[in-house]
Amino acid sequence: MENIIKAIQEATIEIRHLIETGDTGKSENQNSTGDTQLKLDIASDIIIENHFKKLSNVKAIVSEEQEHIVPVNENGEFLIAYDPLDGSSLVDVNLSVGSIYGIYKNEFSGKNIVASVYVVFGPRVELVYCDGKTVKMYRLQDGVFNYIQDIKLKEKGNLKAPGSTQQCWHDHHKVMVDGFFEDGYRLRYSGGMVPDLHQILLKGGGLFSYPSTSDLPKGKLRQLFEVFPFALTYKCAGGGAIDGHQDLLLVETTHIHDTTPCFFGSNNEINKVLEVYEPHATK
Ligand code: F6P
Repeated sequence: MENIIKAIQEATIEIRHLIETGDTGKSENQNSTGDTQLKLDIASDIIIENHFKKLSNVKAIVSEEQEHIVPVNENGEFLIAYDPLDGSSLVDVNLSVGSIYGIYKNEFSGKNIVASVYVVFGPRVELVYCDGKTVKMYRLQDGVFNYIQDIKLKEKGNLKAPGSTQQCWHDHHKVMVDGFFEDGYRLRYSGGMVPDLHQILLKGGGLFSYPSTSDLPKGKLRQLFEVFPFALTYKCAGGGAIDGHQDLLLVETTHIHDTTPCFFGSNNEINKVLEVYEPHATK
């Protein structure tokens, strides 16, 4: 695993340079979810793939930017799913963006995730590594990732990051979000899940939601590249991660680009979601 983390650190330093100097324009291509790829998405993807392809303990990799799984080494132990530059359309307005990595064994599924890493490219570059037990944050300082702190969520926070648009929310979801704001929660939503989830983790707690909506009944965020890695991180930080009804890591994956509704937060907020969503479970 150590060599995988080292490869991610090296790729991160290259991507940081790319963000600072690269072209933020669109490419001619769309990814498999239909998003127009930016040149930065493609370039970041190539950087990461080149690093992972050198590792003998990696069996296969799959990127949010690619259609198929890429085999690396038949005898490798780990499978890695990654989103090279999540929120890349925010680079041109100079907001924070991130990379997300899920490390799996045997097959790409929530039950088989063993570790996760995300990187925030903001005013500072921070890397958060979850080994399935603890969550540790490192900061890039003079070319080196220095350990800063372990991350632990409080039982209850005061931030709310509600995804999608109110026009497409179901009524019970709207009532729930309004309820949080009536209870004094503060709105914190940049449109980049990495900085939004990072903020909730570091400020002690709250709730990030990307629910089932009228336009996207299965949510927007991808299971393997975005949702499962953060689910592992939130659970190991002492919080919760659910699809509205069950633990996100129990959600079945039938296709590598599957999405799911998702809620990440501290325990108090996750219990509130369960309460509100319980009567709306599809039997
Ligand atoms: O990966 C998709 C993404 O950019 C996430 O980083 C972010 O949380 C979400 O989409 C924002 O979507 P919306 O604008 O629909 O809330």
